[in-house]
Amino acid sequence: MSTIPSHLKNVDVFISEEKIQSRISQLGQEITNDFAGEEIVVIGVLNGAFMFCADLIRQIKLPVHLEFMGASSYGDGTESSGQLDITLDLKKSIEGKNVVVVEDIVDTGLTLKYLLADLKNRSPKSLKTCSLLHKPSKTQHHIPINYLAFEVEDQFVIGYGLDLAGKYRELPFIGLYRGE
Ligand code: PRP
Repeated sequence: MSTIPSHLKNVDVFISEEKIQSRISQLGQEITNDFAGEEIVVIGVLNGAFMFCADLIRQIKLPVHLEFMGASSYGDGTESSGQLDITLDLKKSIEGKNVVVVEDIVDTGLTLKYLLADLKNRSPKSLKTCSLLHKPSKTQHHIPINYLAFEVEDQFVIGYGLDLAGKYRELPFIGLYRGE
């Protein structure tokens, strides 16, 4: 069982570290099987996906080239602003490569829709999506998630990369924020 540090008074454990790691191991196996004998480019979408990405690539038993893209659609609050800023772009071409885009959460689908359209224009050999979490109740843009760890209700999830105004990303579990 994960233990909540004493300073996290408003946070409940929602998905434990053990459950997350076990699911990541399964996803890593799936990706390994699907791309057997090939190389893949894993693109982590910053900031939220950094931790998921780090754990996921350790479970992929293939040559992986890791890249990050920066995209931000939220301000300091809990609702999407509807705007997307690309804050960091890829360092290398993905032309002819197998690409897996890794998100921490797909909420409205806006971020992934925008990113996929952009990446498709760069002529990858294949383009797949992977997300730690998906909130189907918030969907505005239907984007297929090829590798999904967990589906969640419309709850305010934090931790394991997900933040509330920049806080809580460091938690090794996914928590529920209960408010002040
Ligand atoms: C979050 C999350 C996804 C996006 C999902 O990013 O990491 O990228 O929102 O929402 P959507 O499906 O409605 O587009 P955010 O902009 O909060 O930046 P962060 O990853 O730095 O926290």
